[in-house]
Amino acid sequence: MLVNTKDILTDAQKGQYAVAAFNVYNLETAQAAIQVSEREGTPVIIALGERYFPTVDVEGFSSMIKAMAEKVKVPVSLHLDHAYEKKSIIRAIRCGFNSVMYDGSKYSLEQNIHFTKEIVEIAHMAGVSVEAEIGSTARGAFSDEEEGNGTLTDPDSAKVFVAETNVDFLAASIGTVHGMYKGEPKIDLALLEKIRQTVGIPLVLHGGSGTPEDTLKKAIQLGICKVNVNTEISMAAVAFLQKYTEKKQMAHLSTIMSDMQQAMEPVMTKFVRLLANNKF
Ligand code: 13P
Repeated sequence: MLVNTKDILTDAQKGQYAVAAFNVYNLETAQAAIQVSEREGTPVIIALGERYFPTVDVEGFSSMIKAMAEKVKVPVSLHLDHAYEKKSIIRAIRCGFNSVMYDGSKYSLEQNIHFTKEIVEIAHMAGVSVEAEIGSTARGAFSDEEEGNGTLTDPDSAKVFVAETNVDFLAASIGTVHGMYKGEPKIDLALLEKIRQTVGIPLVLHGGSGTPEDTLKKAIQLGICKVNVNTEISMAAVAFLQKYTEKKQMAHLSTIMSDMQQAMEPVMTKFVRLLANNKF
């Protein structure tokens, strides 16, 4: 069933588990995410990034996800990931996204507050919840996200930011990276604890891929309610396709696509089980 992301994350916060926000770009990634969650009995957030707006029919995609969500028992929400432009946010709201992320992390705190506040006012009028970020997530290997400078979230700024903007969830930058880690991950869980003490709303962890399982478990105990996952799923699909191209016989595209979906599902299942924190 289709629900508001805020309801999914409020329940997660109360129940001390986290929900996966899987980045999707096409039918197979969306089907994999929804089917895995239905099998596991867990809620799921379907995330489409603004960066795919030039190549994905956003309105058509939204209708498709909503139809797919209504066919399953588990809560599903449709989320706009990393949007930098107001017009993308309005477009997503108009076609029924349940939440949007406004990424003003490249701005000063004052500017980020100013822009985020305006987005929150608009989105809330439409019943859509808003995620924002202070600090900035750096980019590791194989990621498709924008390069961030890796600035960690300052807990006092986070407190001011949340109070001023009335944002619904906050992406906390604690050292995770978008994509795979190039060296040993340096994730500051003590910082997360401080942010948790200053901010009451659900916290979001970007850069789920490659993050050690133990760290994810501890992060959930410290208030992370949503974990974004993209690169590991992409890598599973691409590794599968690379193997396919080694074969001499030409397969039919329909078979390749459904086999590719199956190749992504174990990665999603791994995350869904880990984040569920034995609560489902
Ligand atoms: P990964 O690519 O590291 O899984 O991060 C995804 C993400 O945070 C999208 O917002």
